[in-house]
Amino acid sequence: MEHKAIYPGSFDPITNGHVDIIERCLDIFDKILVAVLENPKKKPLFPTEERVNMIKEIFAGRENIEVKAFDGLLVEFAEKNDIKVVIRGLRAISDFEYEFQMAQMNQKLKPDIETFFMVPNVKYTYLSSKLVKEIFMLGGEVKGLVPDLVESQLQEKFKKSKPNFDI
Ligand code: PNS
Repeated sequence: MEHKAIYPGSFDPITNGHVDIIERCLDIFDKILVAVLENPKKKPLFPTEERVNMIKEIFAGRENIEVKAFDGLLVEFAEKNDIKVVIRGLRAISDFEYEFQMAQMNQKLKPDIETFFMVPNVKYTYLSSKLVKEIFMLGGEVKGLVPDLVESQLQEKFKKSKPNFDI
């Protein structure tokens, strides 16, 4: 039997912390579905299609990594894709309350779906997509924090005009 897991998030943009979690999860699961949230409430820096395409390009040729956009309930999307494990990264105690609440609510909605928490590589404990955007916007260096492709896409975004997005 193939063990699959879903790794959901906004990924606006994907960081090296996310990449590290995906790579380490592949030592545990046979396949990972990276599920990119299409969130109508937030104005992302990268539209959903761009976020999906960047992740696809980063993992090009990797048959055990699939990337899809989703909206609606995560547990419904997981079920539709025949997946029973949700992966979430837990960086710090500050993440815990929200993650715990979400995991328990997902458990209430679909008791047969489990949440699997991953501790990030210590190199990336401080890293978040939000900080990457803020640092980049203020002219700071993001090399080593995000894949090269993301860095060049950030440069493209800010080269044209100052984008309007929710941090
Ligand atoms: O990267 P993020 O923004 O922390 O990811 C949050 C995400 C996508 C995991 C969460 O917002 C989510 O699952 N959204 C889908 C809607 C849903 O299922 N809501 C109920 C959660 S209990």
